[in-house]
Amino acid sequence: MKNRIYCGSTDLSQKGQVVLLAGWVQRVRNLGGLVFFDLRDHTGLVQVTPDPYHEDHDHLYETAIHLHHEDVVEIHGLVRRRPQGGENPKMATGLLEVVATRIKVLSRATTPPFLPEEADSVQEELRLKYRVLHLRADRMQRNFRLRHRLSQTVRRYFDENGFIEVETPFLVKPTPEGARDFLVPSRLHLGRAYALPQSPQIYKQLLMVAGFDRYFQIVKCFRDEDLRADRQPEFTQIDVELSFTEEPEVQEIMEGLMARIFQDVKGQTVPVPFERIPYHDAMLQYGSDKPDLRIPLKIADLSGIFASSEFRVFSEALAGGGAIRALNLPGAGGYSRKQRDDLLEKAKSWGLGGLVFLQWLPAGITSTVAKFMTPEQMKAAAEIVKAQSGDLIAIGADRNIEKLAVGMGQLRLWIGRELNLIQKDEHRLCWVVDFPMFEWNAEMNRYQAAHHPFTSPVLADLEAYADQPGKIRARAYDLVLDGNEIAGGSIRIHDREVQKKIFQHLGFTPEEAQAKFGFLLEALELGAPPHGGIAFGLDRLAMILVGADSIRDVIAFPKTTAALSLMDGSPAPVADEQWGELGLKRLTS
Ligand code: AMO
Repeated sequence: MKNRIYCGSTDLSQKGQVVLLAGWVQRVRNLGGLVFFDLRDHTGLVQVTPDPYHEDHDHLYETAIHLHHEDVVEIHGLVRRRPQGGENPKMATGLLEVVATRIKVLSRATTPPFLPEEADSVQEELRLKYRVLHLRADRMQRNFRLRHRLSQTVRRYFDENGFIEVETPFLVKPTPEGARDFLVPSRLHLGRAYALPQSPQIYKQLLMVAGFDRYFQIVKCFRDEDLRADRQPEFTQIDVELSFTEEPEVQEIMEGLMARIFQDVKGQTVPVPFERIPYHDAMLQYGSDKPDLRIPLKIADLSGIFASSEFRVFSEALAGGGAIRALNLPGAGGYSRKQRDDLLEKAKSWGLGGLVFLQWLPAGITSTVAKFMTPEQMKAAAEIVKAQSGDLIAIGADRNIEKLAVGMGQLRLWIGRELNLIQKDEHRLCWVVDFPMFEWNAEMNRYQAAHHPFTSPVLADLEAYADQPGKIRARAYDLVLDGNEIAGGSIRIHDREVQKKIFQHLGFTPEEAQAKFGFLLEALELGAPPHGGIAFGLDRLAMILVGADSIRDVIAFPKTTAALSLMDGSPAPVADEQWGELGLKRLTS
């Protein structure tokens, strides 16, 4: 098959030439005496018909009428312009056809459970079970080719910038922080286990201590956590670490990477630098630590305007230390009572106690709770959310600021979708910075590292808030694309004393810290350069670039949200004997 060409690359410039094609049969049309079928490979389709004047026509015809969808065939034939009236303007090769002088069946297919071109309309379980058929679909082929280009661009970019790719182990020491580990019990050392790495975090820091000042790796990571559309138990990171660095350099290099990716993969220019939004502003203005900046709306705080309000919902929220916040729904002033009630129900599911609406009708601003507000207050509220005539203003109030912020954030996303405020193929990137170092874990009754325990705190905060750890900021940054966290990183601790203080805040005794992270702590004492880095979720990035809703569409063989592989049936039962070798005993089936 030396001179084989792709189906999609046939064109009229080859008119009169004999070509060799190979691929899958897509649709056979038997018109009695005349038979046509489409031949498909990843580049597209081309119509084939047996040569009616060939000396072996009867045999060719017989072969053609017995072809089935998904049979694999090789075709020798002549490219010709289709007879007038036979053109298909919907097909890229619709002006031509290949008149076959030879049809060789390379492999027969049984009736497939679904056709690749119809895969998007069948149940996802079926698609996952017969993954090869789904992957044959044009959309999936394009997704994976784009993902390939993305990976190649990443490798080129880092190589050009002096980064080297170093592999780190997959059988590692279990770490207690972060998500749950996947464990691999050791057969040689009964009672002990490796973990599959949640990320190469510690290893890349060790590489910095080892003198590799610019590292990257495209690497699989494993986390046993609840799955969602953008989470898989095994996923791929673009993992990066640099020595002798600080935030601006890391961020600038990553902005260069994103600009290069958009250029190479989408042919789009993205303006750099990206906006940097402090965490607290992100929560206030967007109700999220991954704001979707494509939605041109900000949440406004109305607590000042209604500070002396006698409306109970407002006064109680403020008295309880909470806030009053609002969003504008452009053009929704004419929402009916039912539409507002429906939105109210949704708001409750987002954790908001309720919503108060101000409608800006041609006659002026009205509200069902107008009697609790002065016209000045209503006007001031409209002004602060940048409303105009014809708009609807939704106000939420709660004692619990976090709950209010998140609920308003959900409302903002809903408005963006419902009112079609997002332009197709528009992309917006931003950094979220100044994250808190610690989060309170009520269940464990202790602080937890918001990023990971090796993230450097802002040193001035560490001093100033020694007794209020919740206020200490981390030198961490997330990169957000269209409302998705596509990367997260930080400047790390390279000073043993600082690391000790952080462990204290996390409630670890020195012995516990030693037992858990001793190998890193020891390395940090062997001459550690200041360092920092970041890791991108490659699957998430690919998902956004191809415009898919789930990372399963850019992972060749993904798991379901129940962590099952429907194709190969993993996880699979294991014989008692094999458990026994690992020193384990099966308790349930
Ligand atoms: P983090 O845990 O934020 O950071 O992970 C980095 C990025 O990986 C992606 N990601 C996932 N993608 C798919 N499925 C998952 N289950 C999943 N979990 C995370 C996200 C996320 O932004 N070692 C640090 C990075 C560092 O500090 O350098 C780390 O792993 O896009």
